[in-house]
Amino acid sequence: MKLLLLCLGLTLVCAQEEGNHEVVTSNFDTSKVSGKWYTVMLASDVKEKIEENGNLRIYVESIQKMPNNSLFAKFLTKENGKCVEFPLIGKPTKRNGIYSTIYDGFNLFHIVEAVYSEYVIFYLLNFKNNKVTQFMELYGRKPDLSPTIKKRFEEIGREQGIPKENILDVTNGDRCSHLRGSDDAQGSSAE
Ligand SMILES: *[C@@H]1O[C@H](CO)[C@@H](O)[C@H](O)[C@H]1NC(C)=O
Repeated sequence: MKLLLLCLGLTLVCAQEEGNHEVVTSNFDTSKVSGKWYTVMLASDVKEKIEENGNLRIYVESIQKMPNNSLFAKFLTKENGKCVEFPLIGKPTKRNGIYSTIYDGFNLFHIVEAVYSEYVIFYLLNFKNNKVTQFMELYGRKPDLSPTIKKRFEEIGREQGIPKENILDVTNGDRCSHLRGSDDAQGSSAE
């Protein structure tokens, strides 16, 4: 009986493993990045930028691949304590997989890693006043992600030289979720 239960247990573990979707680290299919997202973690080598009221303390709402291959994204942020929504367009550059966008200066970004149905990690360089700032974002399809994925994000941050104290989990704060579409009840109720 015990053996039977053990086998059953193992089968469940195996089935769950198979259910995991593939981790993609190159040749990203941006049409699969389309849809709703939540900002789960932020990282930057300039911590003030991602703290409350920082220019890069922004929360993703959705991403859409456009017919011309640009990425159209909706973001939420707080301006003087009030939540506002704003769009950003990432245009493909000549370099494969690298996009540019204008926001708080000029930015170049690319996807680092994704499981399209679960999470995506973006890496961004912000150019402003002759200064370059690194910025990383972890987005989840749900408002929160597993500790394993969060650890993975920290690991990638460390590889880029971003110290752990500059990597923030924003799931416990106000992510302006009340401004998200009304068809997004799951997100609002979870916060
Ligand atoms: C793609 O279309 C959008 C919306 O019309 C536009 O804002 C953007 O500049 C276009 N991208 C390129 C690379 O032309």
